Amino acid sequence: MNNARSRVRELSQQSYQQGDYTGWFEKLYVEAAGNADAIPWADRGFNYWLSDWVEKSQVVVRDRRLLVVGCGLGDDAEYLAKLGAKVTGFDLSQTAIDWCHQRFPDSQVNYQVVDLFTAPADWKLSFDLVVEIYTIQALPANIRPSAIDCIGNFVAPDGKLLVICRGREPEDLAADLPPFALTQNELNKFTTTGLTQVSFEDFIDTLESGAPRRFRLVYQRLA
Ligand SMILES: C[S@@+](CC[C@H](N)C(=O)[O-])C[C@H]1O[C@@H](n2cnc3c(N)ncnc32)[C@H](O)[C@@H]1O
Repeated sequence: MNNARSRVRELSQQSYQQGDYTGWFEKLYVEAAGNADAIPWADRGFNYWLSDWVEKSQVVVRDRRLLVVGCGLGDDAEYLAKLGAKVTGFDLSQTAIDWCHQRFPDSQVNYQVVDLFTAPADWKLSFDLVVEIYTIQALPANIRPSAIDCIGNFVAPDGKLLVICRGREPEDLAADLPPFALTQNELNKFTTTGLTQVSFEDFIDTLESGAPRRFRLVYQRLA
């Protein structure tokens, strides 16, 4: 395991022991002090599986309202903004959002420091496309249902939700610290927010070290 991943394990464990399930993200970004090598998910480029889906599905993003959940260092939000979308990217980490502004000084993205669990009320049912990549899988099981509920409720009538995460079968051993692989059953909770699953892909991500099992799902709020 590389240094960045072991530091995630140490910080998340310390946070969990104090009953704090998300405080470690800000600590990690602060410790990184501008060095993206210290952030295991910071690829300094947009997510391939996002661009692959945008191209294959031919989803219309130009002039649409898009929300990037847990946007980290902003590459996915920037990619979507360059396609002409009106993008809001949010993260609970002030340092991550400051880093986005520093990396992309001329950005068209509306970056915001927002905790998913206390997001502005007017985000409800407001986005034509919500993009959730690797945030839910970074949260422990006790708060994942609530995270899923919050994310699902951001999707506007006729809007879509794209989810990309690690996947596992229920009988596979669950990780004790992040990243956590998710089961299809857990993800089904999105349907309780009024969404319908329109596609589900299950593949081995050979682009990432360790070649994890990956799920890519699309949901829609049928108008
Ligand atoms: C594993 S990282 C993934 C970042 C980015 N989506 C990517 O794929 O590179 C998860 C991100 O979600 C953010 N995050 C975690 N919990 C959050 C919450 N409750 N509200 C908003 N952002 C959150 C973290 O700060 C972190 O930037």
